[in-house]
Amino acid sequence: MVEDTIFSPSFGNRPSYLVGREAILRSFDQNLQTRPGSRERSTVLLGQRGSGKTVLLWELADRARKCGYVVANPTVTSEGMLDRIVEKIQKDGERYVKENHKRLAGGSVGALGFSVGLQFTKDVQETKSAEYKLTQLAERLTAEGHGILILVDELQANSADVRKLVIAYQEIVGEGLDIAMVLAGLPAAVSATLNDRVLTFLNRSNKVVLPSLALGDIDAFYSRAFASIGLKVNDVLRRKAVEATAGSPYMLQLVGHYMAVYAQDDGTAEEQQVDQAILAARHDFQTDVCETTLAALSDKDAEFLIAMSQDASESRISEVAERMSVSVDYAQKYRRRLIDAGVIRASGRGRVSFAVPYLADYLRKEESV
Ligand SMILES: Nc1ncnc2c1ncn2[C@@H]1O[C@H](COP(=O)(O)OP(=O)(O)OP(=O)(O)O)[C@@H](O)[C@H]1O
Ligand SMILES: [Mg+2]
Repeated sequence: MVEDTIFSPSFGNRPSYLVGREAILRSFDQNLQTRPGSRERSTVLLGQRGSGKTVLLWELADRARKCGYVVANPTVTSEGMLDRIVEKIQKDGERYVKENHKRLAGGSVGALGFSVGLQFTKDVQETKSAEYKLTQLAERLTAEGHGILILVDELQANSADVRKLVIAYQEIVGEGLDIAMVLAGLPAAVSATLNDRVLTFLNRSNKVVLPSLALGDIDAFYSRAFASIGLKVNDVLRRKAVEATAGSPYMLQLVGHYMAVYAQDDGTAEEQQVDQAILAARHDFQTDVCETTLAALSDKDAEFLIAMSQDASESRISEVAERMSVSVDYAQKYRRRLIDAGVIRASGRGRVSFAVPYLADYLRKEESV
């Protein structure tokens, strides 16, 4: 075992180094530079479990703050989320308004309903809606020369609170105020079956589907990370570990962590230890990602996936339908739903393959017990 000061295989835990997200971060920085109201100001970030949505939101928060934005740190979709967003903006924006409060505390600020800094007067605080407060904050901060960035995690497009937020956001944009928003969630959160104002908004937003990490980037990171914690592993075995991550950020953390755990006391990891590490990582990944992904699906969706898991890599829809004893048309319905949910992907005419690593293997194991 070597001491692991690098890997953090835990949801929402910010990694010591964010691998392979430079292009996304760069375009996000550019989007923040666009004028208020442009389409690029609202982004929907979609990705499977463990693809790094939450940690990317925190990274975006840091970057936006450096550009002078007032940021509402990631708020999980929930009842009353608008109130929490208002509080977060007040807290983060305080630093920009406190010192010059006196100068601005004339008519216009009072008219917006503020008492001290970004605190509302008692009357506003107690009688006005969160939507109203959000608009007043946007007006005040825009006047101070600062934009607002709202970050939402675990997006549920059919939530009443998200609907309220989207409507408030659109109204604030309509008033020409400086605001931006990033909403992150599972691909299924934005399913085509929703037909609502939220869906229209999401469809018009800038959409980013988090891709798998490039194996080359993971390899370069492992090289550096292993050296820094004194883990000695040869190139062939390191590449084997890289392959085992299948480009998943969560798997990257798990494999790295277990490599450190299983390494010999002198820091060397031989084939046996690397295999043990991969096995342990796969086990955790299957419990945390595959199992929870399946739990969110219907029985029929699961049946479709089980039928697919009989094939080594790709499956033909016609064969999947036959195994399920249903018509091809009927199977198509499930194919569409599972593609929307990001669990499978189309791979050539009439074929599909798994989009979640190790899911096929998990299903085969489950079926054999
Ligand atoms: N780009 C990255 N480089 C290195 N590690 C990463 C990266 N992105 C995420 N991770 C790591 O992967 C794990 C999962 O990340 P995170 O919790 O952000 O995923 P998520 O997409 O929010 O998952 P969920 O849908 O379950 O909420 C964490 O351990 C995190 O540190
Ligand atoms: Mg998350």
